[in-house]
Amino acid sequence: SNTLGNGWVVPADDAAITAAADLLRGGQIVAIPTETVYGLAADARNADAVAHIYAAKGRPDFNPLIVHVPDLAAAEELAEFGPLARRLAEAFWPGALTLVLPLREGAKVAAAVTAGLPTIALRCPAHPVMRAVLAKSGLNLAAPSANKSGGISPTRAEHVLASLGGAVPMILDAGPCKEGLESTIAAIRLENIEILRPGPITAESLQTFSKLQPSQQTGEKIEAPGQLASHYAPSKPVRLNAKSAEDGEWLIGFGEVAGHYNLSPTADLAQAAAHLFDALHRADASPYPLIAVAEIPDKDIGVAINDRLKRAATR
Ligand code: TXA
Ligand code: MG
Repeated sequence: SNTLGNGWVVPADDAAITAAADLLRGGQIVAIPTETVYGLAADARNADAVAHIYAAKGRPDFNPLIVHVPDLAAAEELAEFGPLARRLAEAFWPGALTLVLPLREGAKVAAAVTAGLPTIALRCPAHPVMRAVLAKSGLNLAAPSANKSGGISPTRAEHVLASLGGAVPMILDAGPCKEGLESTIAAIRLENIEILRPGPITAESLQTFSKLQPSQQTGEKIEAPGQLASHYAPSKPVRLNAKSAEDGEWLIGFGEVAGHYNLSPTADLAQAAAHLFDALHRADASPYPLIAVAEIPDKDIGVAINDRLKRAATR
């Protein structure tokens, strides 16, 4: 059975999870829901499987992948954890925090996963379906967002289907993603946290927990190579901080700015984050030639929303 009337999207029940684990163990790629966005997963040890991810996404080979692990013990086999990294993992995993750490010598990951960097990005996801696939397969899973490179990240199975379609043998469908924005990426050095990509785990919560002031990556050197200025880009021009729709614009609203689609009528930033990519997908598919977006407060997860919007508006 499937939810969209074709052979690829399947509800993520036990049988589908078992089938997905079998495909992954056989070196195939599978799209899997996480609490942030849908990921395109492959066995992180298997170079051919990892090559399938890059091919399906059209992803440049210099852009490394996040490895998803079942727990901290599995993560420690792949990276060097100092005391700060270990404390952060214990506090925020499973969850939407990706740690960039020194790659451990002899770590069992395909070279393409880290794109030759001396570091590795690791995340222990919270979504029950992703966790079940990790457990069933017994693998660590390399998984970028399940969209064409440079496109809008998927928060629903139908977004994956629209972007990657037949390039993926199986898409596990567990409905919309709860967070709706990709994980926070933080590079951890001795006594320093550098945020490479803002996300659901905010700078404030990292600071409150660690008593350290995280630094934000500045524009000059791009350390997360996926953090190129133009990203998450719809096929249409995007105008930010709109108060109302101008001619030809499909307006994404927030709070009192109603719009054609409102991210959160009650101006709740977490709700807006969860709806953002779905709104951009709808805006892209609408008959309107232009997209406008209401102003989003630049606090809490609004920082991550504005990061994505800025990239969506850069062409
Ligand atoms: O929420 C998420 O993180 C989702 C779900 C599926 O887990 N994944 C995701 O992956 O957003 P992706 O590939 O779309 O974004 C990963 C980002 C890229 O910008 C990549 O350059 C960066 O992580 N990255 C990966 N390894 C890195 C490393 N060793 N150092 C710095 N950045 C790294
Ligand atoms: Mg991505």
